[in-house]
Amino acid sequence: MGANRDYERKTRRSKSLYGRALKVFAGGVSHNTRFYEPYPLFVKRARGKFIWDEDGNRYTDYWMGHTALILGHSPKIVVDRLEEQVRHGTLYGMGSSLSIQLAEEVQRSVPCAEMVRFCNSGAEATMYLIRLARAYVGRRTVVKIAGGWHGYNTQLNTAVHAPFAGSESAGILPEEQAHVVSIPFNDVSAAERVLGENEGDTALVFLEPVLGAGGCIPAEKEYLKTLRELTAKHDVLLAFDEIITGFRLALGGAQEYYGLKPDLASLGKIVGGGLPIGVVCGLEEIVSRADPRIRERAKFVSIGGGTFSENPPTMAAGLATLKYLRRNHGKVYSQLKKLGDELRRGVDGAFKEEGIEAHTTGASSLFMTHFAKESPRNAEESQRSNIALQKAYHLALMAGDGIFVLPGHLGAISTEHDAKDIAGFLKGASLFAAGAKRDHVGP
Ligand SMILES: Cc1ncc(COP(=O)(O)O)c(C=O)c1O
Repeated sequence: MGANRDYERKTRRSKSLYGRALKVFAGGVSHNTRFYEPYPLFVKRARGKFIWDEDGNRYTDYWMGHTALILGHSPKIVVDRLEEQVRHGTLYGMGSSLSIQLAEEVQRSVPCAEMVRFCNSGAEATMYLIRLARAYVGRRTVVKIAGGWHGYNTQLNTAVHAPFAGSESAGILPEEQAHVVSIPFNDVSAAERVLGENEGDTALVFLEPVLGAGGCIPAEKEYLKTLRELTAKHDVLLAFDEIITGFRLALGGAQEYYGLKPDLASLGKIVGGGLPIGVVCGLEEIVSRADPRIRERAKFVSIGGGTFSENPPTMAAGLATLKYLRRNHGKVYSQLKKLGDELRRGVDGAFKEEGIEAHTTGASSLFMTHFAKESPRNAEESQRSNIALQKAYHLALMAGDGIFVLPGHLGAISTEHDAKDIAGFLKGASLFAAGAKRDHVGP
């Protein structure tokens, strides 16, 4: 298959910019996720469902700013508010009624969000969440999921990629991750075992309800329900990392989608309306421990969003987005789910037609195709699928069909996409499947 050759032919300026980028950024990128072989695309502009690269090629975008852009690129309602806001200040360095309104939107929609704190990235939010949980429970151990990605948070940068053990990074001390234990996703007995083994020392079970970077794999409903019961039984907090799923699966995120309320949650991405944000929220009893009026050192949890927290452009963009989603939630989420279902079903069908086993996992507007005999239930199984074929598929969609799915990563549909886009996607999948059959590749 000549996808690499076609890609290089089509993206000459990106190749040359990558050469320049290598001289200023380690590996040519500021976020490792954005690197793929032979070199990443460099984007010149974006609008609606499209991105244009530096060579002027247009792509229908399914990466959508790391899944943050549920309304597409630069939606008018956000741009208008931003234009107005930047004239009135970009950083007040103080709170504003805008930030209260955005927090109220979160409080109103997300079941566990009795109280909220804003920061500027998801990584920060997950770091603060752990601090709150450990302080509130008065114990050390945090249970995470193998393959769970929570940003470049020091403590949680463990067991993200195969072999799902040990630190992901040099420079992190073993003692910094000493009290983090990882368990396979969708495995009730592993959760029971770990909570039993760490009885009296576990503060928190922290997981993405849809494993994102770990393979876009939804939690089984029974699994989450059991985790809720188990954590309650062991007096351990349950927290959802809803940085991808928040305001994406439903207005109330995975909590609404699964009908379950955790004690704490981290949010990000969509809440910022395309600008940087992180949110830690949860039950008042827990989050209120961050109140700076608490004088008792042993009680007070020192977390704060930093210089740029509650910055007015993010607040304005986030507020415009969440208000739109609330006003239109019935239509938005049913349409996203419909398109997602069509895409998942159609892609698997296209590969099946050519005798190639493919399983497109995901929920609502999130999707990822795995080339494997069985649909993966956790990150280990996802990693055992044919990753090289998956990356070739994504590169071929880019090179041949003008469809951008970041190679090796999950895709996200926005409100800008329609049935025609999904039909185009399925056409691209069929073309690739026919080529893969000719080349005798498969899981
Ligand atoms: C589930 C999850 N948690 C946390 C993060 C980190 O968020 P940020 O990149 O804003 O630091 C991400 C980012 O992709 C994520 O997907």
